[in-house]
Amino acid sequence: MSAAARKVRASVVGATGYAGAEAIRLLAAHPLVTLVSIHGRERDGVPLAAEFPHLAPLGLTLRSGVPEPGEADVVFLALPSGASAATAERLVAGGALVIDIGADFRLRDERLHHAWYGEAPRPQTLAAEAVYGLTERARDRLPGARLVANPGCYPTAALLALAPFAATGLLADGPIVDAKSGVSGAGRTAARGYGFSELDASVSAYGLDGHRHAPEIEQGLADAGATGCGVTFVPHLVPMARGLLATCYLNLTDEMETAALRAVLAEAYPGEPFVHVLDAPPATKLASGTNHAFLSAARSGPRRAVITCAIDNLGKGAAGQAVQNMNVALGLPETAGLAALGVVP
Ligand SMILES: NC(=O)c1ccc[n+]([C@@H]2O[C@H](COP(=O)([O-])OP(=O)(O)OC[C@H]3O[C@@H](n4cnc5c(N)ncnc54)[C@H](OP(=O)(O)O)[C@@H]3O)[C@@H](O)[C@H]2O)c1
Repeated sequence: MSAAARKVRASVVGATGYAGAEAIRLLAAHPLVTLVSIHGRERDGVPLAAEFPHLAPLGLTLRSGVPEPGEADVVFLALPSGASAATAERLVAGGALVIDIGADFRLRDERLHHAWYGEAPRPQTLAAEAVYGLTERARDRLPGARLVANPGCYPTAALLALAPFAATGLLADGPIVDAKSGVSGAGRTAARGYGFSELDASVSAYGLDGHRHAPEIEQGLADAGATGCGVTFVPHLVPMARGLLATCYLNLTDEMETAALRAVLAEAYPGEPFVHVLDAPPATKLASGTNHAFLSAARSGPRRAVITCAIDNLGKGAAGQAVQNMNVALGLPETAGLAALGVVP
């Protein structure tokens, strides 16, 4: 029986974290999915409502470990880097499609992966077959995939903005990606410096001496055709719970007016259900709680342009795109379970 002929059985591992909870929220409302199990370490028998009261209406209970072989058709892993690789290998061997929302399979270059994510081993053969799931650029490789490496939140926004220029030879050299994220991007575990008192009414940059999402953006630009294109990537924390804005500054190989820049984006995403080119620069709120990405483009000088992209870091930047990837990989309608529009104001 094909997966599309009956409901897809899905499990979420890392259900006590933000990305896992968002995956549960989306999958519970997905018309073609049954959520068969949710897993949190050392939480066997704990009601999900004890961790996330907003999900109390689902009446779900956490289990420890991972689903049994054959129990789930698809397993979403929402774990910190280094914690997914071995689990993914076991689950794939058991026949499940694995969608890793974490970073264990994103960087294809083994040396780069270990330089940024530590020496924890990852299964080579599986790493080689992982599909990097920026859905709009991976649609032909997703069907039949056994492992999807869901992109990072910053790379998703940056690559949606820049890949069309890389693919058309318009990107002259290394662009600057100046990006801002809501605090949920750092995960649920409170760390020093992430409390309300320190974050409220304040904005700061971080990772200036190198951030692990820079090589991921560079890998995506190379995939799109701009090989060897280095990127200056500066993330910022802003005092909001959700939302991510990437403001990308690029030098062009040609003189282009704003209308022509917008046309490059529009031609890259014709009829895309989740990528929208706007005339005015987008705000993060447009995407809040959704899988949508909003782009805009403007000329900023001779052969210079600014492209902005707004997403929800937990939506298109994590769980939303993970569900979109599941849909495409399993031959379901791509928009199934992802109908939500932004809540504005
Ligand atoms: N937050 C975002 O906007 C976002 C966007 C894109 C991708 N991601 C990626 O998604 C993954 C999860 O991020 P998150 O923001 O949801 O983090 P989070 O809120 O900190 O949640 C992490 C989850 O992993 C569990 N966990 C932690 N260490 C573990 C270990 N050693 N073994 C097994 N489970 C462990 C935690 O369980 P406990 O509750 O027991 O600690 C929790 O369920 C990360 O790889 C992150 O990079 C996050």
